[in-house]
Amino acid sequence: MSTGSLTMAKVITIANNKGGVGKTMQAYQLSTFLAHSGNKVLVVDLDSQANLSSTLGVDVRRTLIPEWLIGDVDFEDVICHSEGKHEFHANLDVVPASRHLANLAKLLILSEAEVRKNAGRKERLLRLRLEPLMEKYDYIVIDTPPMLGDELIMALVASDKVLIPTQAQDYSIDGLEELMDTFEIIKDSENPKLEFNIIPSMVNARRKIEQVRLEELAQSFNVTPAIRNLVDMQESISLRKPVFLMNRKSKGKKDYTKLWDSLGFIEEQRD
Ligand SMILES: Nc1ncnc2c1ncn2[C@@H]1O[C@H](COP(=O)(O)OP(=O)(O)OP(=O)(O)O)[C@@H](O)[C@H]1O
Ligand SMILES: [Mg+2]
Repeated sequence: MSTGSLTMAKVITIANNKGGVGKTMQAYQLSTFLAHSGNKVLVVDLDSQANLSSTLGVDVRRTLIPEWLIGDVDFEDVICHSEGKHEFHANLDVVPASRHLANLAKLLILSEAEVRKNAGRKERLLRLRLEPLMEKYDYIVIDTPPMLGDELIMALVASDKVLIPTQAQDYSIDGLEELMDTFEIIKDSENPKLEFNIIPSMVNARRKIEQVRLEELAQSFNVTPAIRNLVDMQESISLRKPVFLMNRKSKGKKDYTKLWDSLGFIEEQRD
């Protein structure tokens, strides 16, 4: 529960180096739900596809995230207010992406000396930039691209928790291993407090093989309740209407309510 300005933001990254598993969906549903519950929420879109930015009503021609990270521009220059007809938008700010985020790697190499002076290592840059914002927000939600690059590493270093949407039909210990290895390295070196949860995503409950794989997954990892593959969810994105605003019968709303409850986000809801 918030105790005013003394509360530090909780930083949550949504990650999976595999593409199309429901990361951006998760980031959209979570960030809007937290904002709707009365939290001040900042979304940082670290994916150059910028899907989350545009679903939150923010389309910028050219993102300044690389310049913000290396310290050439201030937070005021990168922050936008989310836009849409729902009330929660008033609580939701966005650091938007655009395809120019692809310049990040190049800029990091060109600014190597400056980065070293400011942050020590480039992996710490995002954490350094988020530090002054920790009292301003209750939650910072970071969406990441489907690769184990600078963006994902920086996000893991800056986070308290990483949520990993995983598709049951694609599941193989091998597929998750690379991400889990990276998680362990970051936990041992830069960020000992980092926690993770695996979220079964786009699950087709009628397929027995998926059930079996989910059970296997739960034997090795912290697995949350699943999100099913539902028409509801696609509509939610195209209508820009989060699942919690759907009617009581919505299966998507049911799945997400169970998920948020299991992750403690419902108890933490503001009045
Ligand atoms: N539970 C769901 N049920 C049905 N469709 C879904 C569900 N979750 C996501 N989708 C749809 O699946 C597609 C991929 O989802 P999403 O963009 O969230 O994945 P992603 O992991 O962010 O992809 P990328 O790796 O490209 O960033 C989207 O069209 C999305 O609307
Ligand atoms: Mg995405």
